[in-house]
Amino acid sequence: MRRQLVAGNWKMHGSLEANSSLLQALVAAAPAACDVAVCVPFPYLAQAQQLLAGSSIALGAQDCSMHEQGAFTGEVSAGMLREFGCGYVIVGHSERRSLHGEGDAAVAAKAERALAAGLIPIVCVGETLQQREQEQTEAVIGLQLDAVAHLLGRHAARIVLAYEPVWAIGTGRSASAAQAQQVHAFMRARLGHRGVDAGSVPMLYGGSVKPDNARELFAQPDIDGGLIGGASLKAADFLGIVDAARSH
Ligand code: 13P
Repeated sequence: MRRQLVAGNWKMHGSLEANSSLLQALVAAAPAACDVAVCVPFPYLAQAQQLLAGSSIALGAQDCSMHEQGAFTGEVSAGMLREFGCGYVIVGHSERRSLHGEGDAAVAAKAERALAAGLIPIVCVGETLQQREQEQTEAVIGLQLDAVAHLLGRHAARIVLAYEPVWAIGTGRSASAAQAQQVHAFMRARLGHRGVDAGSVPMLYGGSVKPDNARELFAQPDIDGGLIGGASLKAADFLGIVDAARSH
């Protein structure tokens, strides 16, 4: 049985004051029936670690270096994230792929570093609108998955995949539940062909998930929760989405 996970990706949002009220509201609600995580900007890890202490909400970051340590100005290692209580780290988000030129090999190297440091990498995959319109969705996602298949072969239950169609991120235009399910089913089949125990791999959907569409998305057989951007910044919305997950 795969447990559902709802993870918030705050992206570059937040302030000490705003984080404090958001995290206090989440902790007070004490979500328990599904796994919940918040992936915060690096400078706020210590604050979030402190505010989440003793709660069931896990802490995560939004990226890590592909290197263990060394002369990499501006980079943050997976080991450092672990020291601040992180359980998760997002790697290969489409904003990192498109704005920072991260390719599949870099994403795989980051996921490997995360695993070595004892973190669960949340590996993002997804197609652009142009790729979807040109019917390249499966080809694109297939290659993105192949890059991490060797890691999934060894750690199927210790890596989370997130399908985030680029055209659905921050646009208010979510994939329909049927579209998302179709890609998730393809992902499981593809990994199965690569020798991965695909039924054990948690797979999230991300892209304009809101309280009013979460239930239908999470009800799909191959969708195990969500990676939430904008709606993770408002306690009521995020808790509404968590609620949709826990009811399965
Ligand atoms: P939105 O929920 O704001 O569309 O963002 C999704 C996302 O990119 C999460 O990683």
